[in-house]
Amino acid sequence: KRVKYEPGSLDKAGYPHYMLKEIYEIPEALERTTHSLMDKYLRLSGMILYGARRAFIIGNGTSLHAGMVSAYYFSSLGGMSIDVVSAAEFPYYALDSVGTGTVVLAVSQSGETSDVIRSVKMAKQRGAVIVGVTNVLGSRLALESNVYLPIGAGPELAVPATKTFTSTLVALMLLAAHVGLTAGRLSQAELNELYNDIRSFSRSLAEDMPAIDAAASKIAGELRDSRDAYVVSSGITYPVALEGALKLKEAAMLHAEGVQLGELRHGPMVLARGNYPIIVIKPREEAAEELYSRVMSELRAREAKVIEVSDSTQAALQAPRAPRPELYPIAAVAPLQLLAYRVGFERGLPIDSPPGLAKAITT
Ligand code: G6P
Repeated sequence: KRVKYEPGSLDKAGYPHYMLKEIYEIPEALERTTHSLMDKYLRLSGMILYGARRAFIIGNGTSLHAGMVSAYYFSSLGGMSIDVVSAAEFPYYALDSVGTGTVVLAVSQSGETSDVIRSVKMAKQRGAVIVGVTNVLGSRLALESNVYLPIGAGPELAVPATKTFTSTLVALMLLAAHVGLTAGRLSQAELNELYNDIRSFSRSLAEDMPAIDAAASKIAGELRDSRDAYVVSSGITYPVALEGALKLKEAAMLHAEGVQLGELRHGPMVLARGNYPIIVIKPREEAAEELYSRVMSELRAREAKVIEVSDSTQAALQAPRAPRPELYPIAAVAPLQLLAYRVGFERGLPIDSPPGLAKAITT
C-alpha cells in the first residue's frame, strides 16, 4: 500500500503504527529528498567541504549512523576523508583541533538535539563553518548553520527514525557527489546518473516493500522470544548493523548489538550457538568476501541461528537489488527496520513511543 504525503495530513492512513507507515513512505521520501535539495546549496556545501582543512560529521543515534555511512560516500564519491564523531563526544574528542578552515557537518533529523546544538555553537566560536543537514525547517540547527540542507522527508512521528535515516543517506550521498564534482572526480553526467539511479531504486523499493515486510514478519515470529541478538556487517553496511540493532532496541525492546564482521571472531563469537540470533548483512565490498565466507562457515559449525540479509534470493531477509554500492545501505536497512517493527508488533509494544524515549532530546 502506498501513501502519498500531503502536508497537514498526519493520520496513520490505515496503518496500525506511524513507524510502519513511515517505512512504507521511504521510497516517496527519497524522491522528495532529491527535489528538496537545491542544486546551488549542494554546490556551495560541496565547495565548502572540498576547501576544508579538516572536516567532521556530528550527530546522535540514527543521525550518527547516517553520518557513519556517509563517511564511505565522502571517500568513494568525494575523495575526501572525514571524521565521524558522536555530537555528545565532539567537545572532548575534537574541539582542540577545531579552528578556521574546519567544517562541521551537523546531522539531526529534528534539528533540536541539544548535543548537536551545543557542539555546533562551540565549533562556531572557534571559527568553524557549519553545514547543517536536518528535516525541520526553522529548527535550531537550521538557524545555527552557515549553509543548511533540508532532507525533505516529510514529518516523522514515530520515535524510531526510519524514512529520515534513508533520506539523510541520500542527502549526504548527493553532498559527497558534489564534493566529487568540485574536485573534478565526478562529471556532471555521472552526477545525473546518480540521480537517475536513486529514482529508479526508490521505484523498485516501493514495489518490493510488501515482500520484504512478509519476510520480516516471518522471521519476527522466530525472534519473538529472543532476549538478545547480534547484527553483524562490514564496510559501508557496518553502520547499518548498528542502526538495525538500535531499531531492535527501540521498537522491539530486544537487546541487540551491532558487531563488525571481523570483530565477531575476537570475542563476541562465544555467544554464537543454539538459538542465539545472528543477523548478518552480507557486505557488498568484494574485499570482504573471504572474511564473510570464513565467518559464515564458523557460524554454521557452531550451529548458530544465522539470519542473512542480502540481495540474494536465498537470503532469509532479501534486500532489494541496489544499482550501485552507495544505495546498498538503504536496501539493507529496510528489512531490518521492518523486522524490528514486526518483532515489536508481535510483542504488543508501544512501538511509536517506546517507554521513556523521546523523539528528540533537547535538554
Ligand atoms: C533521540 C531519538 C533517536 C534519534 C536521536 C537523534 O535519541 O530517540 O531516535 O536518532 O535522538 O535525533 P535527531 O533529531 O538529532 O536526528
